[in-house]
Amino acid sequence: MTDILDSAENVVPRMRTIKSFVMRAGRVTEGQQRGLEVGWPGYGLELADGLRDFDQVFGRSAPRTFEIGFGMGHSTLEMAAAAPEQDFIGVEVHKPGVGALLNGALHQELSNLRVYSCDALDVLRQCVPDAGLDRVLLFFPDPWHKSRHHKRRIVQPAFAELVRQKLKVGGVLHMATDWEPYAEHMLEVMSAAPGYRNLAEDGRFVPRPDERPVTKFERRGERLGHGVWDLKFARLD
Ligand SMILES: C[S@@+](CC[C@H](N)C(=O)[O-])C[C@H]1O[C@@H](n2cnc3c(N)ncnc32)[C@H](O)[C@@H]1O
Repeated sequence: MTDILDSAENVVPRMRTIKSFVMRAGRVTEGQQRGLEVGWPGYGLELADGLRDFDQVFGRSAPRTFEIGFGMGHSTLEMAAAAPEQDFIGVEVHKPGVGALLNGALHQELSNLRVYSCDALDVLRQCVPDAGLDRVLLFFPDPWHKSRHHKRRIVQPAFAELVRQKLKVGGVLHMATDWEPYAEHMLEVMSAAPGYRNLAEDGRFVPRPDERPVTKFERRGERLGHGVWDLKFARLD
């Protein structure tokens, strides 16, 4: 960490914002490139445009889901296609994934999807009005296995509070992971977070909800006997 001098020449430690991702250089396929070029003007939203009125963005008022880190966008595409009466905002930092989702959205001619290509936490802070979301989805976030990397996990007390502010009262944060220690970490953080109610009957995990599409990766995990844990927490106040 490099310290800096402020205008009065006081030494100010530079704040290091710990990110929940590392930017990977990835090859972009032809289809993904098409998604980025042809799809972005209609589907893309910019962080720099700041706070948005999403009723205006979508041209209607409909239940609104915000997905953090959609990867290649398979689940997002499936959910958006299956629920045309709802609106979806997906956020992903990995460009090939953004291209893949946009290419799929073009093919399916979806009108209920918008995409940000940047840090989802910045989007929540800068672009989403308070109490503006019905659901926030966090499916299979990077587990950051090593203890020295646990600080990179996206699920932290500050994350829980940020999401609570952006959910409507009664709105739900739905998380899923295939890494048991991360599931326990999520449970611990969310159980201690003020203003939430765990929707699990046993106060721990909910049964696999039908509305969460099964990913290829999850199917493979199931064959190998790996578990998946789903957590749902509703905003109380
Ligand atoms: C393990 S992948 C899971 C992808 C997808 N949700 C799935 O279930 O297949 C996690 C994804 O989250 C993205 N990610 C991590 N932190 C993020 C953040 N703060 N904002 C946006 N995307 C993020 C990563 O780039 C990565 O693609």
